[in-house]
Amino acid sequence: MSEKPMILTDQNSGESVELPINRGTEGEPTFEIKAVPSKLGYFTYDPGYAATASCTSKITFIDGGMGILRYRGYPIEQLAEQSDFLEVAFLLMNGELPNRAEYDEFTAEITYHSMVHEKLNTFISGFHYDAHPMAMMAGVVGSLAAFYHAKLDMSDPGHRKLAAMRMISKMPTIAAACYRHHMGWPTAYPPNGLNYCERFLHMMFSVPAETYEVSSVAARAFDLLFILHADHEQNASTSTVRLVGSTGANPYACVAAGISALWGPAHGGANEQVLKMLEQIGDVSNVPKFVAKAKDRDDPFRMMGFGHRVYKNFDPRATIIREAAHEVLSELGQSDPLMDLALELERIALEDEYFIEKKLYPNVDFYSGIIYRALGIPVSMFTVMFAIARTVGWVSQWLEQSDNPTRIGRPRQVYAGETERNYVDIDQR
Ligand code: ACO
Repeated sequence: MSEKPMILTDQNSGESVELPINRGTEGEPTFEIKAVPSKLGYFTYDPGYAATASCTSKITFIDGGMGILRYRGYPIEQLAEQSDFLEVAFLLMNGELPNRAEYDEFTAEITYHSMVHEKLNTFISGFHYDAHPMAMMAGVVGSLAAFYHAKLDMSDPGHRKLAAMRMISKMPTIAAACYRHHMGWPTAYPPNGLNYCERFLHMMFSVPAETYEVSSVAARAFDLLFILHADHEQNASTSTVRLVGSTGANPYACVAAGISALWGPAHGGANEQVLKMLEQIGDVSNVPKFVAKAKDRDDPFRMMGFGHRVYKNFDPRATIIREAAHEVLSELGQSDPLMDLALELERIALEDEYFIEKKLYPNVDFYSGIIYRALGIPVSMFTVMFAIARTVGWVSQWLEQSDNPTRIGRPRQVYAGETERNYVDIDQR
């Protein structure tokens, strides 16, 4: 039996419109509002898209109330425990886990594309030494279209796939190059005998004067963090990638826009802000003061790494990362006073009526910085780490959209400006 549509009635005019119900395989149903403007003469108003599904997707499922996250149906906990980042990348892009031959072929192809055009290093060296690496990343990734324009026919699925693979592959090389530029170190080329995360660490930290041994603890920790950050359905940066993609722009431009959106402190930039906040709090005795600041409506301070638009329960990624932070610190034989501070902050906040009532829990960014710090990643590079991982999600979502192109994304507005008035000559104003 087909489901009855929703009926929307304008109580003023008495006009009604039927709104068909859409059900996915899981999650809340939606009703389609396409007919509302033509039938009733209204648009819908939803600032921040808090109640609007922008697309149909088969990639990632979140149940925010239950604290569930699944990539292509697989629970994040299982992938974190049993998979690796490139296998997850294959899964997100292609819909299924690879068999052994597919995995080997995919890994080899990602490895093959790890170098960047030599002139890209000249481009990077044009930045000032203290440029924020996210500013560099947005610029450099956008410029890839200028370097790899020979295979950019977006109507060709082969070209689309190649651009996606290139971005996953080159992102660590570019990120490390941005860091090395800041440090004044010479270019490091990708050692393709190493795996994805080992290669990245080598490009980040090796110097010509010394032999660099990649730490297996560090490589594993990165792999885990990259899996957890790989995709998160229609978050702000992914929606940005889709919106730019809907115009037919090339994928490098789309991902550069995604990087810019990710940089914001309300989104991926929060991991950098969490560390700065913990350093500012400084001591456990100051926690109550900062919790009070976060609750004060007149104070712009927010508890960074807390809260989420979709999760109104624990962010399952935060639970895994907190555990991993303990493990990494213990395996490296380190202790970090900021970890103790973070735990105490979480404990006090979670007992507080304000955080309970507003369902504010630690999100993915709350503990990730502790791990990055333990592994020697500077704070300004934290959001870049997120961008490397999320590139997989961005290109997967972009591929899904490109395979079934939608109309150009074009929201409307409630106009609240002046109504028509006549131009007044400058001397008479
Ligand atoms: N500290 C204090 N109060 C908060 C916080 C916080 N971190 N987050 C939300 N609130 C309060 C808001 O002031 C608001 O209160 P009100 O109802 O009295 O006005 C209420 O909780 C709801 O918050 P909104 O801002 O409406 O929630 P929204 O879904 O729009 O924002 C966001 C979600 C941006 C993540 C927000 O919680 C936030 O700014 N958190 C801190 C930044 C952060 O950690 N971002 C990373 C998110 S995860 C990611 O993108 C990778």
